[in-house]
Amino acid sequence: MNRNIFLLFLLPFFGRAQQLASIVPEPASVTMENGRFVFSSATSVQFHRGDRELITALYPLFLKFKQAAGFDLGKKKKKSSLSLIEIRLDSRLTNDEAYRLSIKPNRISIRAKTPAGVFYAVQSLLQLLPVQIEENTKQENISWSVPCVQIEDAPRFGYRGVMLDVARHYMPLDFIKKLIDLLAMQKMNRLHLHLTDSQGWRFESKKYPKLMQIGAYRKGTPLNTTYDYNSRPGDSLYGGYYTQKQLKDLVKYAADRFITIIPEIEMPAHSKSALASYPELACLDSTGKRFAYPEHIQDEYCTKDETFEFLDTILSEVMDVFPSPYIHIAGDEASKVNWKTCPLCQKRMKEEGLRTGEELQSYFIRRIEKFVNSRGRNIIGWDEILQGGLAPNATVMSWTGIEGGIKAAQQKHNVIMTPGEYCYFDHYQTNAPGEPVAIGGLTTLPKTYSYDPVPAGLTGDEAKYILGAQGNLWTEFIPEPSKAEYMLFPRSIALAEVDWTPVSRKDYAGFISRLTRYLKRLDVYQVNYSRHLFEIRLNTSLTQGSELMATLSGVPGPYQIHYTLDGSKPVSSSSLYSRPFSIRKSCTLTAAVLVDHQIIDLEKKSLVLHKAVGQQISLQTPPSRYYNKGGDTAWVNGHLGNDDRFNDDDWLGWNGSNFDGTIHFASTTQTSTLHTRFFHEPASGVWVPKIVTVQISDNGVDFKTVAEKKMDVPANAGAAPFTLSWPEADTKYLRIIASPYGAIPSGSPDAGDDAWLFVDEMIVE
Ligand code: ACM
Repeated sequence: MNRNIFLLFLLPFFGRAQQLASIVPEPASVTMENGRFVFSSATSVQFHRGDRELITALYPLFLKFKQAAGFDLGKKKKKSSLSLIEIRLDSRLTNDEAYRLSIKPNRISIRAKTPAGVFYAVQSLLQLLPVQIEENTKQENISWSVPCVQIEDAPRFGYRGVMLDVARHYMPLDFIKKLIDLLAMQKMNRLHLHLTDSQGWRFESKKYPKLMQIGAYRKGTPLNTTYDYNSRPGDSLYGGYYTQKQLKDLVKYAADRFITIIPEIEMPAHSKSALASYPELACLDSTGKRFAYPEHIQDEYCTKDETFEFLDTILSEVMDVFPSPYIHIAGDEASKVNWKTCPLCQKRMKEEGLRTGEELQSYFIRRIEKFVNSRGRNIIGWDEILQGGLAPNATVMSWTGIEGGIKAAQQKHNVIMTPGEYCYFDHYQTNAPGEPVAIGGLTTLPKTYSYDPVPAGLTGDEAKYILGAQGNLWTEFIPEPSKAEYMLFPRSIALAEVDWTPVSRKDYAGFISRLTRYLKRLDVYQVNYSRHLFEIRLNTSLTQGSELMATLSGVPGPYQIHYTLDGSKPVSSSSLYSRPFSIRKSCTLTAAVLVDHQIIDLEKKSLVLHKAVGQQISLQTPPSRYYNKGGDTAWVNGHLGNDDRFNDDDWLGWNGSNFDGTIHFASTTQTSTLHTRFFHEPASGVWVPKIVTVQISDNGVDFKTVAEKKMDVPANAGAAPFTLSWPEADTKYLRIIASPYGAIPSGSPDAGDDAWLFVDEMIVE
C-alpha cells in the first residue's frame, strides 16, 4: 500500500482515539474501547448516600448535569441496568487519591480508596463530556455521552500546588475561589497563600488590630510597589485584608474541592508591614535606640522575646483558621543586617552560644517550629532555613534552585520543589514582544512541562522525600486577577501534569493537543490564559559564502511554523517552515504556529544585515552569567533585542565593568557609523552608559580613538537608541567601549550600587 494512503487510513483512528480521551493531566493508563455511554434523565447513580464526603466528591457531577443538561443525576432512582453509574470505595487501591474509571455502554463504574479519588474520577469523566457541560445554563441539542474507556489513574506526587501572593497585591476572594475551581479541575490539591509581606498584611488578627489599621494598607501605587512601601506626597492608600470568617469560608470552599490551603506568615524578614504596625518589634541601632519610623523601617523582626510572643499569638490565630497540617513560616531572604548591630540580638547570640547570623536565624526558625509542633502542626520554610542548621521536623520548599531540595532530602526532610527556572510564574513566558510587564526571567510553557521534581543524583530512598512541585505566583507586577490568570494559565496546567502524570506518559506534542481542547473549557470560565504554547526559537548562522541562514525550532510535530520576512503579509497565509532559509536583506521575521487556522503563538524578530554581522569578535570582559543567553556574539548576530525588555536572547548585560568589544574584519572594510541601543530601566537598576568610544586599529594592538560621545539619560524607560559617526575609514579592527553609568544616583532604586549596562546589536556601517 502507498504509505501516504496507509497513513490517511490510520488517521481517523488516531484522531478519534486522541479526541476521545483528552484528559489533562494525562492519566497513568487509558485503554479505549468501542461504544459510548449515553447519559439521560433515566440514568441512575448508586453510591453510599450516608457518606457526606462522597457526596461532596460527586457534587460537581450532579451540579453540572443539573445546570447544563437539565436533569438531576443525584436524585435517588430505581437501579437501572440500562444506564447505571455505580461508585464504590475500595480499600484495596494502594494510593489514597487513585481511582479506576470504567465506562461501558450501559454502565460507568468508579472505584477509589477515598472520596478524593472519586472526585478525581469525576474530573476525568467531566473532561470526557462535551465542553458545554461546563456551562451554567441549559444547553440544547447536545448528546451527553462519553466514550467507552478503562482508566487506571493515580498521582505521581501527593503535593500538587500553586502559591498565590496576596500580600504584594490584594486578590479578591471571588478570584481565589475561581482559582480553586480551576486547580481542582487539574487535580491539584494544595493552594499556598502568601498572606503577609513587606507590602501588606492580609490576615485579620483579633489580638493585634494595628496590623489591619496600618499593615494592610500601604501608601503607593498599585504597580511596581516592591520598593516603595514608604509614603510619598500625593500617594493614595492601597490594600485590604481578609477577615478570619472569610478565610474559614475559603478553607471550606477549598476542602470541598479536595484542596488544602497552606497559609504563609513571613518571618524573620519581608515583614515591614508588621513592623510599621508594631515598631517595637524591630531591632535597636548599635547605640540602643530604636530606628526612627518610618525612615528606617526594617524588613526583619528583632530576635527578642516579644517578637516570639507576637508571632506565637499570630500563628495560634492562623492555626485556628487553617486546619492545614503544614504552616508556612517563610524564612527567605533575611539580610540579618540589623541583627549584627542590635544589642538585643547580640545578647541573644551570646546567651545561646550562636556564632553567626545564620545560626541566629536557625535559632529563630527552631523556636517557631517548636511552637507550631506543640500545636500538632509542622512548618514549611523556603530553602534558606537550611542555613545554620535545619529545624528538626521542617519541610523545605526549594526555590533558589534545586540544591536546597537535594540537601534537605539527603538529611531526610520532606521537600517541595519550586525552582525559579521552572516554577516561577511571575517570570515572562515568551520572548515575543508586547508582553505585559513581568518581574524578569523566562519560564516558557515547554520549560515548565519539562520539569522533573526528582533531582538527578538522589538515591531511591532520598527521592521519597520529594513530595511534589509547586508553581509560585508572586504579584509585585500583578495588580489584578486577569493578569494573574494570564501568568498562571496555561503554565499551572503544565505543572499539574508534571505533578500527576508518570514520566513515561509525558509528551509535549500530546500535551498541547489535549491542552488546546482543555482551554475551550477555560473559555467557558472566561479565564484570561496566555496563548504562548511553544518556545519558537530563531537561530542564525553564517555559511562559508557569508550568507546569513536562519533556523526556526522549538515546535514539536505535528505542529508547524508559518513564517514571513515580509511584514505586509499576514503570517497565517505565509510559507510553512521546512528548512533553514537565507536572510538577504534587513527585515522583520514573523513566525507563528496555527491551530484550527488560528494563531496560537507568535514570535517577531528584527533582523539587520550590517558590516559586523558574522565577523570575528573578542570581548575584554564577559557578560554577566545571568544575562548572556544569546552568547558572546549576540551583539553582532544581526538580531535586535526586544524593545521593552532586556532579559531576552539578544540583550547582553554587564555589572561593574565596561562593554569592551573588538570586531576583527576578515577583509579591510570601510566604516563610518555605529547605531546601537542601550537599555534604560532605573526601576531595575539598569542605566544607559555614561560615554561610548570607538577606536580603530590596523594590527589589533595599537588603537586610535575616532569617535566619542556622552549619552544623555533618557526621559523614559526602554531601549534607547544611540548613534556615533566618524570620518569614513578603512578598518581592520574596530573597538567599541561603553562605560557604564557607575554608581546609581540617590533617589533612584538601588542607589549607590553599580548600574547594570545592557547592550543590543552593534550595527556597524
Ligand atoms: C522567594 O521567592 N523569595 C521565596
